[in-house]
Amino acid sequence: MTDQQKVYPVRDDIAANAWIDREKYQAMYQQSVDDPEGFWAEQAKRIDWFKAPTKIKHTTFDPHNVDIRWFEDGTLNASVSCLDRHLEKRGDQTAIIWEGDDPTDSKHVSYRELHAKTCQLANALKELGVGKGDVVTLYMPMIPEAAVAMLACARIGAVHSVVFGGFSPDALAQRIIGADSKLVITADESVRGGKHVPLKDNVDAALTRKGTEVCENVLVVKRTGGEIEWKEGRDVWYHDLVDKQATDCPAEEMNAEDPLFILYTSGSTGAPKGLKHTTGGYLVYASLTHQYIFDYQDGEVYWCTADVGWVTGHSYIVYGPLANGATTLMFEGVPSYPSHGRMGEVVDKHNVAILYTAPTAIRALMAHGDGVMDSSKRDSLRLLGSVGEPINPEAWEWYHRVIGNSKCPIVDTWWQTETGGIMIAPLPGAMDLKPGSATLPFFGVQPALLDSEGNELQGAVDGNLVISDSWPGQARSIWGDHDRFIQTYFSTYKGYYFTGDGCRRDEDGYYWITGRVDDVLNVSGHRMGTAEIESSLVAHEAVAEAAVVGFPHDIKGQGIYIYVTLGDGVEPTDELKKELTQWVRKDIGPIASPDVIQWAPGLPKTRSGKIMRRILRKIAANETDGLGDTSTLADPSVVDDLIENRAIK
Ligand code: PRX
Repeated sequence: MTDQQKVYPVRDDIAANAWIDREKYQAMYQQSVDDPEGFWAEQAKRIDWFKAPTKIKHTTFDPHNVDIRWFEDGTLNASVSCLDRHLEKRGDQTAIIWEGDDPTDSKHVSYRELHAKTCQLANALKELGVGKGDVVTLYMPMIPEAAVAMLACARIGAVHSVVFGGFSPDALAQRIIGADSKLVITADESVRGGKHVPLKDNVDAALTRKGTEVCENVLVVKRTGGEIEWKEGRDVWYHDLVDKQATDCPAEEMNAEDPLFILYTSGSTGAPKGLKHTTGGYLVYASLTHQYIFDYQDGEVYWCTADVGWVTGHSYIVYGPLANGATTLMFEGVPSYPSHGRMGEVVDKHNVAILYTAPTAIRALMAHGDGVMDSSKRDSLRLLGSVGEPINPEAWEWYHRVIGNSKCPIVDTWWQTETGGIMIAPLPGAMDLKPGSATLPFFGVQPALLDSEGNELQGAVDGNLVISDSWPGQARSIWGDHDRFIQTYFSTYKGYYFTGDGCRRDEDGYYWITGRVDDVLNVSGHRMGTAEIESSLVAHEAVAEAAVVGFPHDIKGQGIYIYVTLGDGVEPTDELKKELTQWVRKDIGPIASPDVIQWAPGLPKTRSGKIMRRILRKIAANETDGLGDTSTLADPSVVDDLIENRAIK
């Protein structure tokens, strides 16, 4: 029996108390696809509305007219569902446990405190002239103020655009300009793994870029007290402005389809796109998936290790858990600091019941052997989750056996920035697990596999993963560019949302995501467009042409492999490789750091000049026996040169 055929049946102890068992899943799933209106009308009741929706679903994937609306006549405010409605029953319950980078640093924020802090910041935002529909960029460390800032925007109807704190000033500037953002909220510095990252300096640098004049103010949280520059009239200390504000602030009445946030993500072409998520459908979906997929039980401590800069942090650190009245743990640091045992130590320290992390983190720990978890017991764990990339069965088994002490189900959750919430994942009381498979679709999700001509494939088969009908958490558009939204997701296969992922369905109907089928890389669970890295490289004066592909990497899942053709007369030196590496890091951010650079006197191209990435991917992966047909190349000899001079032997 191969690993891939191994099955972990539903555990009796989990099934006994789970929200959803096998029968319930079948019945609810069936209703969700047969009668989506009835199903979602009922589910919408789980959040608080000013005016409950009577129109439930109005959606079409017709490429001439993609139009996605859920609960369109309902009105609500997301912060009310996440805060106000909990005050009576659980005002003193911890909403956020914050664990600092330094293991002696942690604090608990109750629902009442979180409500008060959110209202104070909301009032401060108003004082700064921010109102309904304005976009606020957050470039923040993993501190409670990040969640407060998201909720405070929601409270006054402003739209937040969180930019991951590891992005460069240029990447930040691009996102400030793209969203026309009048305020940036940041901190003096963030702290990760004992090192300080100069967030405010990066904001200063970003705001020197042309086009960022739209940004009027920078609100700065004092996190470390590190030295920073100060621009009078523009910069405002968070504590100066926020602490003096009233602790209540009326919540703006928003339409269900008003935007809640923008989140930038990479695609296969062009600059990163700002996905637009709206209020009602997103919140219903984030909250429902959080409760059922993590089988969240009242009072449990739940820890998602993502950064709030990614969609996982939005839906499963902030909105989903808080809408459900959960206790959500927010970790400032990294799993390897001060030692590789940290994750387990945090679990023990705060009695974490549910741990949701990424395969890359698991593989990094696994590389240190089983002993890496010896400093903790992790008896409090009941359930584990995985997200961001396919989890290889070996890492799954290790996660299960070592971190979970062989007693916790693992929910492998497949979804995307575009989907707003989890789409394919096991419900732990309802589905047997197969290591490496995200198993079955969540309520309302109708996956299909298509061949390259767009024919729907039946049964056990490999294909391109599409979704046949809308679900409430779906992104509604790309900010300011609906045509690009249609082009990217709805034009490849007419009538379907195209995910960009390849997938296999097995004989039990289980889904196994095989990875991207487009030119998007997934490096340590971070999504990156090859086109973005290439355009950064060709902007360097020494570079004539560059092609970027992914290659299999033991820890990161995929590494970044770059082929560079230099300009005439430029010497290919190791120094230059270092310089190009720094160039990309500076331009995009450290997450885009090249793993390998190979000098390429020529790139394999078709006669019409298109780079044959399929060949470059094979060479990078050292699969040169199966290069396939190279006869259509303009100059087949370049391939021999690339193979001979492969950068990793
Ligand atoms: O390729 C899939 C992979 O990550 C992509 C989405 O990336 P992003 O929008 O950054 O969102 C990441 C967190 C939701 C997908 O197209 N992916 C995500 N989760 C999984 C996955 N691949 C396989 N299994 C997963 N569980």
